[in-house]
Amino acid sequence: MRLEGKVAIITGGASGIGHATVQKFIREGAKVLVADIDLERAEKVVAEVEADGHAGSAAAAQVDVSVYSQVEAVVQRAVDVFGKLDVIFNNAGIAGGKPLLEHDPAVDYEPMIRVDQDGVYYGILAAGRQFRKQGTGGVIISTSSIYGEQAAELAFTYSAAKAAVISFTRSAAYELAEYGIRAVAITPGRVGTPIINQFSEELRSTFASEQLRNKLTEPSEIADVVAFLASDEANVINGTVVHVDDGYSV
Ligand code: NAI
Repeated sequence: MRLEGKVAIITGGASGIGHATVQKFIREGAKVLVADIDLERAEKVVAEVEADGHAGSAAAAQVDVSVYSQVEAVVQRAVDVFGKLDVIFNNAGIAGGKPLLEHDPAVDYEPMIRVDQDGVYYGILAAGRQFRKQGTGGVIISTSSIYGEQAAELAFTYSAAKAAVISFTRSAAYELAEYGIRAVAITPGRVGTPIINQFSEELRSTFASEQLRNKLTEPSEIADVVAFLASDEANVINGTVVHVDDGYSV
């Protein structure tokens, strides 16, 4: 129960890595606001938590992380429902991409920057302000990607947004340490979630072969690391990137 008594917001909590992290946080004793643009699926996650015998430990909220006022509202909602905020996992994201020279900026650049980059900035800002107000410190974990540290095919915009997540994390740790706030970024490799599962069997097996265990990472394996990073056991991990990529980047 390493998160006993903690209150967390998990964005993108309705699916994939976020969903697995909600389950793990609940098992570790946290109370979780499942925040997602897809309210119906977020509510299903809450129903699942309740069916597992943890009624009252999770609530659902609709948020579009690319709109600051909505992110602020979701932080307030966590405080209204659970009394405070200790952790935000900025994890909501969209993937995909086209060759650079085929880009229409309005389609292939702006929307992804708004969700994958601005959404993380907004989460850091809104949660940071709440942590400062509470005077309790707090933890900010944000999902980058292996592509945040390298170039890749069809990932021009995605890589830029995910690199920004790493930069935001370093700067947030630096600026917010005086309030007892910690910030960490994670870089997943190939995780078996809808983002990856939409591809053909052949491509998925190529993705698997890029990792050292020759398999896709389970979302729950990422969730285990996030729970550790959110806990007080990880107090010395700050302003850095934790590679959760099964050796992809070696
Ligand atoms: P997923 O598609 O299963 O989950 C993403 C969730 O984010 C969905 O529930 C979706 O409704 C939500 N979402 C999308 N746009 C949103 C918005 N504007 N506001 C609020 N919620 C929104 O994907 P997955 O794989 O779990 O991705 C989670 C994070 O991990 C993303 O940031 C992704 O870029 C990152 N990632 C995933 C990898 C993978 O192999 N699956 C690898 C590296 C990074």
